[in-house]
Amino acid sequence: MSELHETAKALVAEGKGILAADESGGTIKKRFDSIGIESTEQNRRAYRDMLFTTPGAEEYISGVILYDETIRQSAHDGTPFPKLLESKGIIPGIKVDQGAKPLALAEGETVTEGLDGLRERLAEYHTLGARFAKWRATYSITDDLPSEYCVWANAHALARYAALCQEAGIVPIVEPEILQEGTHTIERGYHVAGRVLLALYTELFDQRVDLEGTLLKPNMVLSGYDASNRAGVDEVAEWTLKCFYKHVPAAVPGIVFLSGGQSDEDATAHLNAMNASGPHPWKLSFSYGRALQAPALQAWGGKADQVEAGQRAYYHRAKLNGAAASGLYAPEMERETANV
Ligand code: 13P
Repeated sequence: MSELHETAKALVAEGKGILAADESGGTIKKRFDSIGIESTEQNRRAYRDMLFTTPGAEEYISGVILYDETIRQSAHDGTPFPKLLESKGIIPGIKVDQGAKPLALAEGETVTEGLDGLRERLAEYHTLGARFAKWRATYSITDDLPSEYCVWANAHALARYAALCQEAGIVPIVEPEILQEGTHTIERGYHVAGRVLLALYTELFDQRVDLEGTLLKPNMVLSGYDASNRAGVDEVAEWTLKCFYKHVPAAVPGIVFLSGGQSDEDATAHLNAMNASGPHPWKLSFSYGRALQAPALQAWGGKADQVEAGQRAYYHRAKLNGAAASGLYAPEMERETANV
């Protein structure tokens, strides 16, 4: 088990966090649509090549989550992506869930699929270099949802996934993402997050998962995106910490947040505010997709002559989030020139 502990700790090394670059075919198409380029295998490879070859990214990035297609692709010089990342001291990871599907007899709710054949898929991903994995469950907030049924069905699946990962020598990142669309108050967001975490840690315990060899990837506790009087940075930090202090065991080495549609600057400021009031029992860092990639995607725009501009934008965001992971970010840093 100690290798799992080492990997989990390395992923939340001081001032470092994770790049989530595991967008599924549908999601990456949406991202490419936003810059008007076609989602071909070659364009997807070129985009990930730009991110992964960014000079110095390893100063702030401990691991990268890949998608099934990406873990099999290579950089422009022919080096397989997992090998390229390893050579920079970045740990390759892999998304292994097969998506959130409608939960039977539960209107408006989902359960994440992908357990069938997972043992065999994990064995292959391990040979391809993956040392950690991700499984994402999603929940919606309304006055009545999520149901207990949805909360426990997803917790059960997350724990089955986590146990299989540990058996395969792979650190499971458990990701219960409560979607923040809607008008809910931050108090309601806090209440729902507590229920979801209580079920998750009950199932992980029952299914014999060693928490020291896991990481939690949650949403922050926020007011709904369409709520009036949305909570500010300090309030978000307070409610989020209050929730985790109540529900996340200290044996968990790290909590790596998803950005979930927050603006880049909000995602960084919220993380920083939580770390500024530390130390806490677990490391608090990031596993951002959009909040690390959005400016890089825009700067690149699918153009070969804009690779360096894209890399500068990605490096800059990684640096600011690395600072936030140590509580050392200041909004003025947003205006620094993004130099690679
Ligand atoms: P976002 O940071 O864009 O939410 O993506 C993180 C992720 O991996 C969601 O599963």
